Amino acid sequence: MSDRKAILHIEGMAPIELPIYSGTTGPDVIDVRSLVSKGIFTYDPGFVSTASCESKITYIDGDKGVLLHRGYPIEELANNSSYLETCYLLIYGELPTTEQLADFEEQVSKKTMVHEQLVNLFRGFRRDAHPMAIMCGVVGALSAFYHDRLDISDEAHREESALRLIGKMPTLAAMSYKYSIGQPFMYPRNDLNYSENFLHMMFGNPCEESKVDPVLARAMDKIFMLHADHEQNASTSTVRLAGSSGANPFACIASGIAALWGPAHGGANEAVLDMLEEIGDVSQIDTFIAKAKDKNDPFRLMGFGHRVYKNFDPRAKVMRQTCDEVLDLLGIEDDPLLQIAKRLEQIALEDEYFIQRKLYPNVDFYSGIILKAIGIPTSMFTVIFAMARTVGWIAHWHEMHSGPYRIGRPRQLYTGETAREYPKK
Ligand code: SDX
Repeated sequence: MSDRKAILHIEGMAPIELPIYSGTTGPDVIDVRSLVSKGIFTYDPGFVSTASCESKITYIDGDKGVLLHRGYPIEELANNSSYLETCYLLIYGELPTTEQLADFEEQVSKKTMVHEQLVNLFRGFRRDAHPMAIMCGVVGALSAFYHDRLDISDEAHREESALRLIGKMPTLAAMSYKYSIGQPFMYPRNDLNYSENFLHMMFGNPCEESKVDPVLARAMDKIFMLHADHEQNASTSTVRLAGSSGANPFACIASGIAALWGPAHGGANEAVLDMLEEIGDVSQIDTFIAKAKDKNDPFRLMGFGHRVYKNFDPRAKVMRQTCDEVLDLLGIEDDPLLQIAKRLEQIALEDEYFIQRKLYPNVDFYSGIILKAIGIPTSMFTVIFAMARTVGWIAHWHEMHSGPYRIGRPRQLYTGETAREYPKK
């Protein structure tokens, strides 16, 4: 923290000195906490200019298109690490040794089964329930099954919850898919790695030995890494806010799943596929670009734009490269949706409307094309995002509880009625 100050001059008031803090990198912050004692609030709907907390987990430079997890660039992690190694890094702050990684993988593997009675909870949903609706319900219900070791002030209990959530999310996600297609649930297998196990639970069946394609498992693992964490995005901020009241970790993660579901956030990957299918052919792209630019039309180019990135989302670059690799390995020539996506990106990036607003493809623009090629239905896309982001949510929750914190309680600019009398009858 430095001793630099901002001086706020407000007519009719003495100048107000506000401390300025610098991080290790990124914008400085002005500490405005003392303003409430002066009878003034800051005003920042959507938190465009607001740092809600101090964190050491992830750094984004939106202008340069940089994303670092504990200092490591996402491109290097995605091309050289694994999802579980990245989980360890996000939670503990350093890359694990070979032994530490093996132990972490073993611990997660032993947490992949869920309480057998959770199966009954699934039976209460309609078969056509959206898998994200099921995930909101069953993840929140985990606190009804795992209420031991929920002392959030106990670091060992927090770590146990993190392992349970990272281990069980793939199992619950695959169960929500199996339930929707009326197939029996598949138990996790401890002889498979994390992503292989997920694909086994998604596409395996009790009538034959599971054959998981290692290429698809590697692509799945890379997709998990690319979605693992992203600073104080809407769902992570939701988890921090829920956690600030002392709510248990399962309830907090369920709140993150709910926030992620929206099409402006994690629901965009499903919306991108629906959009590409609606466009249908490259000849229709100009029509949809015009709709996206039309202020009177609510249509937006899904998978484009970002609150922070005003340059390429580095995850989108890796995702596009992975797209080409996976489709090539699967022998899928000229995937029509990929052709539309690439042409759409090219046209948009040359259009003044998108250039002026610095709108680039984000993480959701290409992910759906890979997921579809792997055989994952569109309705499961945001569930995959929620599974992968669970480690980011729980890492931020753990970081918040590892130091002093206060319950999050924003104020408002009130423009409603002032006090008035109730009419006498
Ligand atoms: C994720 O925060 C994170 O880190 C999120 C995430 C993560 O990993 O957690 O990166 C994951 O959520 C990625 C974003 C996925 N969402 C989409 O792809 C949906 C489409 N994108 C937009 O809805 C929008 O770009 C947001 C929600 C992503 C960002 O919204 P902002 O920052 O509030 O920007 P804005 O709505 O104020 O837009 C600024 C201008 C507006 O035009 P003007 O009023 O200035 O004329 O850009 C326009 C917008 O109309 N605009 C778009 C657009 N996105 C913004 N116009 C057409 N198509 C778009 N996609």
